[in-house]
Amino acid sequence: MPPVRVGLLGLGTVGGGVVNVLSRNAEDLARRAGRRIEVIHASARNLSAPRICSLDGLLLTTNPMEVVENPDVDVVVELMGGMSPASQLIRRALELGKPVITANKALIAHEGNELFELAQSQGTVVAFEAAVAGGIPIIKAIREGLAGNRIEWLAGIINGTGNFILTAMRDEGRTFADVLSEAQILGYAESDPTFDVEGIDAAHKLTILASIAFGMPLKFDAVYTEGISQLQTEDVRYARELGYQIKHLGVARRHATGVELRVHPTLIPERRLLANVDGVKNAVLVWGDAVGPTLYYGAGAGAEPTASAVVADLVDVVRTLTADPNHRVPHLAVVPDQVTDLPILPM
Ligand code: NDP
Ligand code: HSE
Repeated sequence: MPPVRVGLLGLGTVGGGVVNVLSRNAEDLARRAGRRIEVIHASARNLSAPRICSLDGLLLTTNPMEVVENPDVDVVVELMGGMSPASQLIRRALELGKPVITANKALIAHEGNELFELAQSQGTVVAFEAAVAGGIPIIKAIREGLAGNRIEWLAGIINGTGNFILTAMRDEGRTFADVLSEAQILGYAESDPTFDVEGIDAAHKLTILASIAFGMPLKFDAVYTEGISQLQTEDVRYARELGYQIKHLGVARRHATGVELRVHPTLIPERRLLANVDGVKNAVLVWGDAVGPTLYYGAGAGAEPTASAVVADLVDVVRTLTADPNHRVPHLAVVPDQVTDLPILPM
């Protein structure tokens, strides 16, 4: 079989990580996917900026639409972030019948319902494992591993930057602003870091998790959202003295009358597992009626952890590229006609 040719939109933290992982693990990936996976065309704003990956053999452009419309590109991977032009680029790729893989939680949370519908109508898919909890395969875990359950609730630390900040404030006594700058340098933070510290990024992710867990449409506007920017170093230290950790949680819970969705800082007793998740790590507790509580833990941000999730989606997409669309791996998209419209409860 000829290789699958990937068009990559974005060569920053995650895009660079994807190029590196694809290159380092090329043989294993070819075996798992059944075909080699090669990035052939990539876009960035500044083609002379230093990169964390080699650009050897890549056709480069500053115009991402060129990548999408390149007839040699079989799969589009969007790692630019933001709503526009990412939205237009993904829509164009889907109109061309190309599968799309994205880590863009903001776009999925706001426009996912339409994007999944478009993908379905074009007989293709949008895959987004990297959009939630970085390298933790939480989408696949809920959609596939827990498919036999009725999910009652989930709760987790789903923003790595926020957890990195709270941990360093507690352990090193550093200021909020100082640690945030380090998170930006390390590539953990969003391009607009208010998304991280005001809870917007976590709300995007909770929107996606709730949609998968409860089989409901994405409803970002319904999430109660509170960030960590008002917390002081003293707050996290006093909490510890009292036997608690302050963690920024996303919580989704099913009730008889609807669904509760909230993101806010929470005092957690030190003996609890979530209280001991530190640094850039994320963890998500998911409670299913058959299995009971399950816990997923790992790196919530960063180049290669996030690339791990993007590349896993690539392997899935490549495996299914030749299959009848109706028999493709179901976790790749929320299928619009299979969702139930549950009401969101007021907070
Ligand atoms: P970066 O800012 O590091 O990279 C973005 C890339 O897109 C850069 O190469 C940039 O070009 C390019 N780009 C941005 N806007 C344009 C444009 N208008 N035209 C052409 N190219 C453009 O972002 P990240 O890699 O950190 O994040 C990418 C996506 O992954 C986002 O959706 C983010 O939310 C998500 N994500 C990030 C994680 C992380 O740990 N960083 C983890 C999980 C998800 P140039 O380099 O020239 O500026
Ligand atoms: N800015 C995000 C975070 C990236 O810190 O969690 C991973 O989604």
